[in-house]
Amino acid sequence: MSISPILEVRDLEISFHAQKRSMPVLRGLSYSLSKGRVLAVVGESGSGKTIQALSLLSLLPPAARVTGGEILYNAQNILALSPAQLRHIRGEKIAMIFQDPSASLNPVLTIGEQLVETLRTHQKISKKEATLQAVKLLEKVGIAEPEKRLKEYPFQFSGGMCQRVMIAIALSLKPDILIADEPTTALDVTIQAQILRLIKALQQQTGMSVIFITHNLALASEIADEVLVLYAGRCMEQAPVKDLFSHPLHPYTKGLLSSLVSVHKKTEKLAAIAGNPPVAGEEFAGCPFAPRCPSVMEKCRCQLPPLFEKENRRVRCWLEETI
Ligand SMILES: Nc1ncnc2c1ncn2[C@@H]1O[C@H](COP(=O)(O)OP(=O)(O)O)[C@@H](O)[C@H]1O
Ligand SMILES: [Mg+2]
Repeated sequence: MSISPILEVRDLEISFHAQKRSMPVLRGLSYSLSKGRVLAVVGESGSGKTIQALSLLSLLPPAARVTGGEILYNAQNILALSPAQLRHIRGEKIAMIFQDPSASLNPVLTIGEQLVETLRTHQKISKKEATLQAVKLLEKVGIAEPEKRLKEYPFQFSGGMCQRVMIAIALSLKPDILIADEPTTALDVTIQAQILRLIKALQQQTGMSVIFITHNLALASEIADEVLVLYAGRCMEQAPVKDLFSHPLHPYTKGLLSSLVSVHKKTEKLAAIAGNPPVAGEEFAGCPFAPRCPSVMEKCRCQLPPLFEKENRRVRCWLEETI
């Protein structure tokens, strides 16, 4: 039985416009997300992870514009929806949590007020009923003594607890898709693991789909079914998580993985990828990774490789060209 995609991104192009200049930050991104699956979008800072996520909710910053492509949610183009249709999709169908949970909560409202407000915006229920739902939600995300905690303010919550609350708010509307943008980056390592386990458990309970954004391949390996490696606004490789880890094809993915291995082995020398990613909007004729690539060939510097399809995976590298 084939699983139909709940979300399809097709040839998505996004640019920033400033001082009459246009800086492309997403260049023809395509992927599809099936129901109940977890897709990790991995890449170094500045690769376009957050921008692509915000575009799914039509929440791009004012200077950014979608210049091409389509975003299909249940075969409906999100980019062509009215503001009212968008409001319905945002939160109720697609919810998002961010890196800094404390910044996402209102400091002058109690946790309960914020949860109740969200619940009542989208459902015709009494305050009492919403409070009962809020208690259940806090329990679900692992917050002890939820009745008492509802009356507290965000400053009384630790970073990990705030992220649990954000997850509770995101889940309160039973979304089909949860977008988690570096949800554990601001947290301690032990708390990171707890939040990751919580998202995974809730995903399995609810059957929702998740787009998990991270710069950390190790986190992606723990949560994802499928991994998409983004570099300079392009997909460089996409594969089921096991295949990507056991047999990475792109030299960039190999570089990301070898820096991981050295961290785990605590070796003295970190096998990081030399050099820096291109700056936003930089134009290059060939492969954007060519200047840093240990396997670079002449062709790579002048011709952008297409995404070669290989069974259940895709890779943008001339080394994988099949004739
Ligand atoms: N408000 C903005 N104005 C101009 N450029 C921006 C803005 N936000 C992001 N960018 C640029 O868009 C690119 C992608 O950013 P982003 O999606 O935030 O990357 P990531 O989430 O992968 O770190 C970056 O190169 C960044 O410089
Ligand atoms: Mg980001």
